[in-house]
Amino acid sequence: MTRILLLGGTTEASAMARALAVAGADAVFSYAGRTARPVVQPLPTRVGGFGGVEGLVAYLGHERISHVIDATHPFAAQMSRNAHAACAATGVPLIAFERPAWRAGPGDLWTCVPDVAAAVAALPEAPARVFLATGKQGLEPFASRSQHHYLLRLVDPPEGPLPLPDATVVLARGPFAVEADRALMAAHGITHLVAKNAGGAGAAAKLVAARALALPVILIDRPVLPPRRSAATVEEVLAWLSHAGTERGV
Ligand SMILES: NC(=O)c1ccc[n+]([C@@H]2O[C@H](COP(=O)([O-])OP(=O)(O)OC[C@H]3O[C@@H](n4cnc5c(N)ncnc54)[C@H](OP(=O)(O)O)[C@@H]3O)[C@@H](O)[C@H]2O)c1
Repeated sequence: MTRILLLGGTTEASAMARALAVAGADAVFSYAGRTARPVVQPLPTRVGGFGGVEGLVAYLGHERISHVIDATHPFAAQMSRNAHAACAATGVPLIAFERPAWRAGPGDLWTCVPDVAAAVAALPEAPARVFLATGKQGLEPFASRSQHHYLLRLVDPPEGPLPLPDATVVLARGPFAVEADRALMAAHGITHLVAKNAGGAGAAAKLVAARALALPVILIDRPVLPPRRSAATVEEVLAWLSHAGTERGV
């Protein structure tokens, strides 16, 4: 019997959930629980961590999961590593629903850096107005460059004081549009954009807007993940599901 665990938290995961619901699949959608009001899914939904690899192995067995689809964000590296390890340990087939990374085009002023620390180091010395579009995690390292003003775009209001002394918060949930992002950056006098190379359509608007405004972008490369089977479209994942029951391993 096919019973799918869909690890979510992305626009692509929601698209996958809709396709599985339409297909009448037996599937469970899983959220980490990072946002106060997550998007409601058309599948039975669980919220919260599994308790590391060990907890996920136990969950897969207890819930009789036959297939895992990892549609988490490309920067959700811990969850993806845990899913890879748990599926390897149990023999449950795994597929990652991965969006291609963004690539610079004509007119882009990108500096690609390996991690958050390198993004901090790539900021100028002179005070700048930085659109720090990296989400609520990983803000602390930017406190060492307190001469800059930071514009933060978050899904939920911050729960406590921000680690950045000079910051403006706007609350919004993607997907975002180019014109709105361009207007946002212009209204806040943004001089630099810092972003993760998430890929996908829903978050690309800020990069197109930065190009239009001729703004420098500091783009953080994706974390390196173990080699795994992956698909770029919902259709590819559905095709894999229809035949993956006979093969084992990840
Ligand atoms: N990182 C980003 O930039 C980003 C951006 C947009 C959306 N998201 C989404 O937000 C969630 C958390 O991201 P993160 O970077 O904090 O992840 P992470 O660092 O890879 O994961 C940390 C821990 O959170 C739990 N977790 C993460 N995703 C989960 C899921 N879908 N279902 C159940 N538990 C999950 C796991 O806890 P246990 O070890 O206890 O199982 C995992 O070990 C992900 O679902 C991701 O798709 C992340």
